[in-house]
Amino acid sequence: MSKKFPPISSKAPMMLHGADYNPEQWLKYPGVFEEDIRLMKLSKCNVMSVGIFSWVSLEPEEGKFTFEWMDHVLDTFAENGIYAFLATPSGARPAWLSQKYPEVLRTNEFRVRNLHGERHNHCYSSPAYREKVKIINTKLAERYANHPAVIGWHISNELNGGHCHCDYCQENFREWLKKKYGTLEELNHAWWTTFWSHTFTDWSQVESPSPRGEKSTHGMNVDWKRFITDLTLDYVRAEVEPLRKVNPDVPVTTNFMEGFEGLDYFKFKDILDFTCWDSYPTWHDGEMDKNGDVAAWIALNHDIMRSIKGGQPFALMESTPSLTNWQNVSKLKKPGMHVLSSLQAVAHGSDTVQYFQWRKSRGSSEKFHGAVVDHVGHENTRVFRDVTDVGEALENLKEIVGTSVEPEVAVMFDWDNRWAVKDAQGPRNVGIKYEATVRAHYRPFWEMGVPVDIIDSDFDLSKYKVVVAPMLYMVKPGFGEKVEKFVEAGGTFVTTYWSGIVNDTDLTFLGGFPGPLKKTLGIWSEEIDGLHDGQKNSVVLSDGNALGLKGSYDAVELCDLIHTEGAEVLATYGDDFYEGRPALTVNSFGSGKAYYVASRNSADFQYDFFKQIVEEAGVTPVLGSADLPEGVNATLRTDGESDYVFVMNFSDKEQVVELGSDGESYEDMLDSGAVVSGSLKLGLHGIAVLKRKSK
Ligand code: GLA
Ligand code: ZN
Repeated sequence: MSKKFPPISSKAPMMLHGADYNPEQWLKYPGVFEEDIRLMKLSKCNVMSVGIFSWVSLEPEEGKFTFEWMDHVLDTFAENGIYAFLATPSGARPAWLSQKYPEVLRTNEFRVRNLHGERHNHCYSSPAYREKVKIINTKLAERYANHPAVIGWHISNELNGGHCHCDYCQENFREWLKKKYGTLEELNHAWWTTFWSHTFTDWSQVESPSPRGEKSTHGMNVDWKRFITDLTLDYVRAEVEPLRKVNPDVPVTTNFMEGFEGLDYFKFKDILDFTCWDSYPTWHDGEMDKNGDVAAWIALNHDIMRSIKGGQPFALMESTPSLTNWQNVSKLKKPGMHVLSSLQAVAHGSDTVQYFQWRKSRGSSEKFHGAVVDHVGHENTRVFRDVTDVGEALENLKEIVGTSVEPEVAVMFDWDNRWAVKDAQGPRNVGIKYEATVRAHYRPFWEMGVPVDIIDSDFDLSKYKVVVAPMLYMVKPGFGEKVEKFVEAGGTFVTTYWSGIVNDTDLTFLGGFPGPLKKTLGIWSEEIDGLHDGQKNSVVLSDGNALGLKGSYDAVELCDLIHTEGAEVLATYGDDFYEGRPALTVNSFGSGKAYYVASRNSADFQYDFFKQIVEEAGVTPVLGSADLPEGVNATLRTDGESDYVFVMNFSDKEQVVELGSDGESYEDMLDSGAVVSGSLKLGLHGIAVLKRKSK
């Protein structure tokens, strides 16, 4: 049976291709807009994000609105088959607004209010800001929510949590805490405030973490971060309300960022109709981009976006058509890389490829940022041709719209855990490396061409064969039981050192680590050793171990000293006073298995170990075999009838990829349906999208 999600907008059931567009910067330049329309069609662009920072052009004085230019833009789009994601303009405020209502400006952690300037410099609590946003959003909705060109609302821009410490925000924080804890007594216990005499005796004493005190109260820090997410959600709700009131059918999104730590993106799943993000990989970054390191990290980010809304296709809202102007070095994309990196998003579930920006601005801080149309103004550029190639490819991929990825493996990337483990003051304060650890646990699957969902502890585990929870320091209520049921029912659970240490308010578990995971894993972790940079231990595989792994691997940075309590030992440490003690264990529990990897191990361990796990758990790599050339990735989207297999070469040379020995044939969708079987040749930065019957 064919299974598809509906397109982002029923008005535009195709792959969307386009860019952020700021025609308001060019209103005094006759002919530019008309030329833009011509070039948009020429480059096969069919969607533009407009209005993102246009507040002052829409409301030059308080209460005086100038929508005529926007009318013209949207009407002309509609006449030319171009759609629009229409933004609410709140990402930057007009000077009149800051001048008249200073409270709208953010107050920093030293309780000093920012001056006017920059963007993203507003308080999410400020009643004045919310009121002004409500007015402009209402006007926009009344005028454009039913416009034929408008297919979605782009809320503000790259919300970053605000981290405002003004009186309004303090009051909101206290209210949030009162709702969560009820009494000060509960709060004091949850935050362990008898430590250093931090006990609060009146609610008015509770304030956001300050630069002087931020190290001490871990429970408070993690709650502040949760509050920031909730405040942002509340702010987004306020932005969205006037829009949905006029036309609830226009889908709403807000653009997320790469690896962004400040907001728990999973919490946005209900407020957004679809997710989207802005992707700016540092391709061709020498050592940093070796054999697909950057590609695997970007893949992980795409997978987060798709996973947030349970597999629903997302949008690549921004990416650069050539270079950025804010990375350390502004590197051009080498030939092929633009198509490859654009379609990588589609491979992971995006139904759009969009850029920042359509036309390079003439002045100010982004005048040298890559754009589809450069200062030269015409289409005879390498970048314009690259962009047109993507437009052509997307036309060929139309039938993929709405299809998704159905991974059998999930890797956990839990924001609460991320915040807590980095705040812990524990075994390695020079860098606990949470994100790097998640990457190191995602990478082997990427190398094998095994699709992965990225989840947090609120997700249902039952649809996965394998769940990997790297460094799950914080285990929230109920998660231990969830894992127990998952493994009992036949699942494979893998976790590591420094897991099961604290509860949801950052209080340690009493009675032995890894706390609520102890029973399922069948071990007790007594101590953990931090290793200096350059120091090593080793993990020596036991003869005849059940996974069939051999030899030894390097262990670095963190080594847990554990005891088995029912688990079987697969490997032991090779050095130091804990030589011979268990370094890798498995516990058979119900019909499943729970693995404990006690140390931080080298990349070859990661690959070899997870290859065995994939095999043992019966997970199928996209191309049947897990042996792909280094730097090549394969993933797939499916509607249940057809699989669309994306094979992508992120290595630094041409590659030949085996498509399976069973002689299966595929249709190459980027090459007029040419039939491919046996092996596939991929040029440097090459990509093929191969269609086959679903398995
Ligand atoms: C972000 C912003 C854009 C622009 C780009 C530049 O993604 O959302 O407005 O500044 O960065 O890369
Ligand atoms: Zn504030």
